[in-house]
Amino acid sequence: MTVCEAPGKVYLFGEHAVVYGEPAVPAAIERRATVTAEPRSDDHVRVEAEDLSLDGFTVEYAGGTGDHPDVDVPTSLVEAAMGYVDAAVEQARDAADAPDTGFDITVESDIPLGAGLGSSAAVVVAGIDAATRALGESLDRRELADRAYRAESDVQEGQASRADTFCSTMGGAVRVEGDDCEPIETPNLPFVVGFDGGAGDTGELVAGVGELRDEYRFAADTVASIGEIVRTGERLLADADPGSAPDRELLDELGELMDFNHGLLSALGVSARSLDAMVWSARDAGAHGAKLTGAGGGGCIVALDASDGTETALSFTQGCEDAFRAELATEGVRVVE
Ligand code: PMV
Repeated sequence: MTVCEAPGKVYLFGEHAVVYGEPAVPAAIERRATVTAEPRSDDHVRVEAEDLSLDGFTVEYAGGTGDHPDVDVPTSLVEAAMGYVDAAVEQARDAADAPDTGFDITVESDIPLGAGLGSSAAVVVAGIDAATRALGESLDRRELADRAYRAESDVQEGQASRADTFCSTMGGAVRVEGDDCEPIETPNLPFVVGFDGGAGDTGELVAGVGELRDEYRFAADTVASIGEIVRTGERLLADADPGSAPDRELLDELGELMDFNHGLLSALGVSARSLDAMVWSARDAGAHGAKLTGAGGGGCIVALDASDGTETALSFTQGCEDAFRAELATEGVRVVE
């Protein structure tokens, strides 16, 4: 039995613009998905996903994709866990040259699902790592990140960026520009997350930005301006002391850039009333800055605040279902046992 866990992430800067070749900086957070993999003597895959939702479910199916039996759980749940676990198992089988190996897989996660925190990427990364190790192989991190990207891409029909899977694999903050992904050094950023209990439709939101960009020059300029914000933020991070507690001036400067970034994402139509309410609540409570994270439309915001003020204020904000501190996860995927 092998157990691996991988972190979720927030976007410090750059979501949506990254789709058009601008850089983005996601950062891994200490909220993790844990996957246990135990090879079986047959080719079946049995998945248990207790904490992935309030209900949880167990399902067993014959090996290979597209052969899932009817199960008495909501389809979205089955898709959420099965699709990603399936794709992770396929990658592990391929990596270990063991095409017919079955697995008992257990998934647990404390990352809100589909809310801009990279929950699926964390499941895929931990799943491939656990299943591959269970077969006696271990992948280097670059190969693991690449396989995780391919797995997500398969499930999302080509609509995945490398950001989530790379960040979850490597930990820390990373820079993504097109297919180029590199870890970057950062101080220990004090993230606070607010979650509205919902999730936006990433495909629709990405398509909406594409349409705006085709129709209006201002939208194309907005996307380019987000790229400028990312580059400015990167310079600030590069000048800071890696691993240290950031000073107030740096937090103020990064926070201001996050505020700009949120405003531009709003202009592109991907914010939501609940996200705006949480962003303003965080700012009013003294956060250095706040923005939506991920595709938007609903889901999560991220704020910078080393004190408890933002978390407390968010927990009293209408539309906020959960608020929590999310320290930077300096370690990416790791073996638990
Ligand atoms: O909601 P998330 O965490 O999957 O992030 C989506 C980020 C986008 O830039 C909107 C899309 C993408 O694939 O980069």
